[in-house]
Amino acid sequence: MRILVTGGCGFIGSNFVRAMLRDHPEDEITNLDLLTYAGNLENLAEAAADHADRYRFVKGDICDPATVLPLLDWAQAVVHFAAESHVDRSIEDASAFVRTNALGTQVLLDAARRVWGEDRSRRFLYVSTDEVYGALSLDDPRAFAEDWPLDPRSPYSASKAAADHLARSYWHTFGLPVLVTRCCNNYGPYQFPEKLIPLMILNAAAGKELPVYGDGLYVRDWIHVADHCRATDLVLRQGEPGQVYNVGAGAERPNLEVVRAIIRLVAARLGREEDELAKLIRHVSDRPGHDRRYAIDSGKLRSLGFTPSRDFEEGLAQTVDWYLDHPGWCQNVTSGAYQDYYRRMYDGR
Ligand code: NAD
Ligand code: DAU
Repeated sequence: MRILVTGGCGFIGSNFVRAMLRDHPEDEITNLDLLTYAGNLENLAEAAADHADRYRFVKGDICDPATVLPLLDWAQAVVHFAAESHVDRSIEDASAFVRTNALGTQVLLDAARRVWGEDRSRRFLYVSTDEVYGALSLDDPRAFAEDWPLDPRSPYSASKAAADHLARSYWHTFGLPVLVTRCCNNYGPYQFPEKLIPLMILNAAAGKELPVYGDGLYVRDWIHVADHCRATDLVLRQGEPGQVYNVGAGAERPNLEVVRAIIRLVAARLGREEDELAKLIRHVSDRPGHDRRYAIDSGKLRSLGFTPSRDFEEGLAQTVDWYLDHPGWCQNVTSGAYQDYYRRMYDGR
């Protein structure tokens, strides 16, 4: 298969490209990425060198029809990851979110419609998020199912929901073979340290404060990025066009529990006192509109044959090891603009 991956230099995209090149020696991949602050060529340097015959990188913007059209013409399938992905940044300024997430998706869908015509053998997989469902209360026994109404509550999730609606509208209106996945919180190697888990690992290792929003009892449902990539691959090849598939691994955890687990792992790895690291926890003012809890029902995906391959505690330990074993990567992504972001977001909070 010839696959166009958008956003392949980001966290999940780079893990996905690496897994596809490893698991499908017959596939060719073109990675279209604008290299925003979250995109990093280093994430794929080794895979790019090892598979130069069937991997190609194109620097470009998904919002630009002239860039996108020939790539869609080439592709038999699109896996669309490219996005502005961080909720806190969308609260600072939503404009890039609306542009990339909503407009960019529409440009890709339109290009696919134009060049694919009536060819129903091609596939457009839009990577949505569980955040489009809104929030659950802590005592709600339910989990989000695919037919749950969409109720996004942050500028980020609203822009993702706009794209999710657009993607499905192209299936209903034009018969474009669209598939949608809605995944829960990912963790694992190459995640940019603006997100909870890598931020806490790096801060704990550096003896910096661990900024927990509000009471820290917010619950996220976690999946290792390798499992998200396996699920995406499965839906791409075996999912039914027009369908939505939730992706999850059944690992709901309150944020404070995650932070304490990271403290334990970092303390053990670096020979520090756990109690001393725990003193770094600081409750800071809450994220505006903070969704209390996410929980995802992935029964439909499991009926396609998916089972997650690692549990949260094992995956978290491997993730802590990965960050501590890659100081050069961490240094590169946290220098420069990251320092400005960190000061804006956390100083005096
Ligand atoms: P990320 O921020 O790490 O990477 C985003 C990538 O998109 C970067 O490489 C960036 O350069 C690229 N990009 C941004 N704007 C672009 C544009 N206009 N044109 C081309 N490329 C552009 O994001 P991530 O965490 O890897 O998430 C990937 C996708 O998965 C997103 O669509 C996100 O909404 C979705 N998702 C993420 C999670 C999660 O927990 N991280 C969970 C569910 C769904
Ligand atoms: O649920 C899927 C979503 O998960 C994806 O669609 C998003 O792209 C991804 O960023 C993620 O969104 P969250 O907002 O849940 O992730 P984040 O890592 O920013 O925050 C996780 C939880 O930790 C959330 O309750 C806020 C809290 N938090 C986060 C940071 C960065 C803190 O308490 N302190 C922090 O410093």
